[in-house]
Amino acid sequence: MTLNKKIKLKQLGDRRGNLVAIESHIDIPFDIKRVYYIYNIPESTPRGFHAHKELHQFLICVSGSCKILMDDGLQKHETILDSGSEGLFMDGMIWHEMHDFTSDCVLLVLCNELYYESDYIRDYNEFLKLTKTIVK
Ligand code: TYD
Repeated sequence: MTLNKKIKLKQLGDRRGNLVAIESHIDIPFDIKRVYYIYNIPESTPRGFHAHKELHQFLICVSGSCKILMDDGLQKHETILDSGSEGLFMDGMIWHEMHDFTSDCVLLVLCNELYYESDYIRDYNEFLKLTKTIVK
């Protein structure tokens, strides 16, 4: 399984500025049911440190930059998000950590499901145990 699922988004902007549109099943492979964004992250404050059992997410750094470390239990991959015209697709069972948010960072996340705490795996050892029972 590849962990680096960056998708380039079409830039519809012109000399008046940038414009990017994201449509379900056209630009991203799921129906958008929830949107959240994180911003004003204090310096040197990491976030994430969990996996989702089922949730599919698409992350776009619409301002500033941050680093995303992804881990499927076998491999780890770190990528930088620093463009409003690309996003990172993350399917279920990916342990992720987010680091090095710039002070102007706004990370927009599109999700295929509503918020369910029961979908979270917040313990890394439990995550590793579960990945060993899943055939990739
Ligand atoms: P969490 O997903 O743990 O944050 P991060 O991965 O960015 O470190 O969420 C932080 C808190 O916000 C947690 O108590 C759950 C709550 N939350 C919601 O209520 N709805 C949501 O859509 C999200 C993403 C989080």
